[in-house]
Amino acid sequence: MVNVKGEGEEGLLRPGSRFGDCQVERLLGKGGVGAVYLVNAPGGEQYAVKVLRPDIAGSDPDYKKRFVHEAEFMMTLRHKNLVTVYDAGDDPEMGICYIVMEYMPGGSVKDRLCEHGAMPISEAISIAAQIADALGMAHFQGVIHRDVKPDNILFSADGVPKLSDLGVAKFLKGATSATETMQGIIIGTPAYMAPEQMMDSSNIDARADIYSLGVVLYEMLTGKRPNDGSTVMGLLAKAIKGEELPDVRTMRPEVSAAVAYVLSLMCSPKPENRPETSRAVADLLVRAAADGLILPKKPLRTAIIRRSKTMGGRISSFFRNIADAIDGHSSGKEKGKDDD
Ligand SMILES: Nc1ncnc2c1ncn2[C@@H]1O[C@H](COP(=O)(O)OP(=O)(O)OP(=O)(O)O)[C@@H](O)[C@H]1O
Ligand SMILES: [Mg+2]
Repeated sequence: MVNVKGEGEEGLLRPGSRFGDCQVERLLGKGGVGAVYLVNAPGGEQYAVKVLRPDIAGSDPDYKKRFVHEAEFMMTLRHKNLVTVYDAGDDPEMGICYIVMEYMPGGSVKDRLCEHGAMPISEAISIAAQIADALGMAHFQGVIHRDVKPDNILFSADGVPKLSDLGVAKFLKGATSATETMQGIIIGTPAYMAPEQMMDSSNIDARADIYSLGVVLYEMLTGKRPNDGSTVMGLLAKAIKGEELPDVRTMRPEVSAAVAYVLSLMCSPKPENRPETSRAVADLLVRAAADGLILPKKPLRTAIIRRSKTMGGRISSFFRNIADAIDGHSSGKEKGKDDD
């Protein structure tokens, strides 16, 4: 985790100090653009407060005005799988820009991956489908996230996954145009970025978020990022070549053909080959998980034949089941059988 410049261990807000009507309890963690604190309100409610790095907030005179304007719009967005933003502002006395949001005590998808590795298949799909639905709402309102990654999917106390930091990339976009390389800030995280975002992040649309969510789903299913170990230059070279991601089933063979197919669509190198909307992704994932997706015959057949040859000509019962399903017969697979 990147240290917030010029701060001590506690950062900008000290435990026990006041923040408006609230009292700062502790630092929750630091990210590339600031630090997040847990604060207690007088009525007993708890909130998470993200304080942006002063060097970002002070990067240009209009920045704070734009920040508050954008944050006010984010406050109007509500979805059960989106971390709610309650307030945002610029405190001239403290010299900080802050966002007050819903406190998510259940940790992040990244924490879960670090602790337990790959997730049960049904859980991974359910998280991806819920986040796709939240993205669908954001995209409909004209907001692209630009930094969908496991760190930005947080869990509520009762385990509901919610997307965080929506709009933060947009706050940064204005702040970093001149200072991006100077401050070492990259908008987005290369390992999760769509090829077109790697090449020109100024000209992307909702389909870049769909790609990133596909990479997160791949990681939730396998415990590894598809391009693990690649350098940024290596990722860029793959983006330029339009290289496909490896088939998820090489790492997790129990993933159904339907889910693997939807994932491959989400991570198509060309945006025009991805599902057009996040809501369509949510729908495809739910149907794939419930065996309710009719797959196109040709590409999958080719994939199966190629795969069976590498297996020395033996077609496992797994592949035979899929082939039956494609031909319109029942695969005999029970709902949920893929799950761990
Ligand atoms: N609403 C929240 N509730 C609880 N913890 C949070 C909340 N938002 C962020 N955190 C935690 O605070 C820490 C810092 O989060 P932050 O969003 O600043 O960085 P990040 O997402 O890890 O990385 P990046 O800055 O690259 O987005 C992380 O450990 C994160 O899980
Ligand atoms: Mg974050």
